[in-house]
Amino acid sequence: MDGQEQKERGIWGSKIAFILAATGSAIGLGNIWRFPTTASQNGGAVFVLVYILAVVFIGFTVMLAELTIGRHTQKNPVGAFNYIKPSSPWKLIGYMGIITGVGILSYYSVVAGWAIGYLVKTGSGAFKGEITGQITSRIFTEFSSDPLQVLIYLMVILGITTYIISRGVRKGIERWTKVLMPILFLLIIFLAIRALTLPHAGEGLSFYLKPDFSKFSGKVVLFALGQAFFSLSLGMGTIITYGSYLSKSDNLVTSAGWVSFADTLIALLAGLIIFPTLAFSGQPGDVGGVGLVFEIFPIIFSQIPGGYIFGILFFALLIVAALTSTISLLEVPVAYFVDERNWPRQKAAIVIGSLAFFVGVPSALSWGGMEFFTKINVFSIFDTIFGNIALAVGALFICLFLGYAWGAKKAIQEIFSGNPRFRIRPLWTFSVKFLTPIAIIIILIFIKTIVSG
Ligand code: PFF
Repeated sequence: MDGQEQKERGIWGSKIAFILAATGSAIGLGNIWRFPTTASQNGGAVFVLVYILAVVFIGFTVMLAELTIGRHTQKNPVGAFNYIKPSSPWKLIGYMGIITGVGILSYYSVVAGWAIGYLVKTGSGAFKGEITGQITSRIFTEFSSDPLQVLIYLMVILGITTYIISRGVRKGIERWTKVLMPILFLLIIFLAIRALTLPHAGEGLSFYLKPDFSKFSGKVVLFALGQAFFSLSLGMGTIITYGSYLSKSDNLVTSAGWVSFADTLIALLAGLIIFPTLAFSGQPGDVGGVGLVFEIFPIIFSQIPGGYIFGILFFALLIVAALTSTISLLEVPVAYFVDERNWPRQKAAIVIGSLAFFVGVPSALSWGGMEFFTKINVFSIFDTIFGNIALAVGALFICLFLGYAWGAKKAIQEIFSGNPRFRIRPLWTFSVKFLTPIAIIIILIFIKTIVSG
């Protein structure tokens, strides 16, 4: 029975399969779309600096915590907390993760849908000829406010995600990502080099990399911290779920380190494309709205010989990167219903995939598609509540759970298996028990002033 269940949940063939899946979950729209946009809206380089600190000291801490809980219990988030502390309220963290997963999946898929739209647009030659920021911004506004298109693309992304999860064909996807992700990486490096050699690139670069400390604020910290959790897929149990398939001989510390490093590298490179190109098109660094990336990439493609092909390749790979993340978002609730409620995998995938679609409709129509949702801007509300706050709260409780309820000592025993030395043990223990929880609590206490200010 147990073996069968494990099979239904899908098991990693090797450590490298896990690394690929976890990196695939981490790398996605969060790096290429959300990171540059959030950096643009929060003062540029100051944000980048706080972000890097947040990844190193807090993100890494939480990632190792989730991996440890996951591997120790070999369960989905709800099952995991219940296994360590049976019949206690701790399992509420797991339930919160499931709700957060559906919440993020709903609006994340809207943006992933835009990427499909842009693949189609690029393919049909919408960006041929002289491309300026004005043109791309008009194209984006027209596109994102067309209710029919955005809803169809939303449905397509969620349809593909549901199919992959329900058929358990993730293995096939992983085989592909092994090839496609390195291509995406090379393409991003190439585009960054081109962007850096554009006229006025220096101005964009200085906004992005030269901190202006007068722009430092609580809001910068909140969004940097939130972005770190979002980008690393932390705070809702994704990494608990993925870690639950790891074997006792795997080194959790190096796994967490690798995923955090690769993820941060891609985000930083995306910024190296966006900000120089923004400056090239005559715009300041802080104009970033939700369409920033969709408005900027076509400009850089128009500056490259063969840019048409590069454009198609880029949006196709962006869709793949987004899919490996939507898969992980759907996997968390599905793993719960399969493990804890004995639902067939297919039923769980279809029910939750459809739910994500309906929940996503208001977000999809928040950009002019429907006046009511546009006025409230449901999309941004979802992004703040689920993408920032819920992940931070989740990460807080995961640390408190590990540090105090389960006990850091027991967790360290788990980490020893696969890493008998675990040299950064004192630092990590300090961060799990004090640094990370305190940082999150301070941010949450001031959240009202931060968000409204
Ligand atoms: N980390 C993904 C990205 O950066 O695109 C988004 C994400 C996936 C967030 C899974 C949370 C999660 F659990």
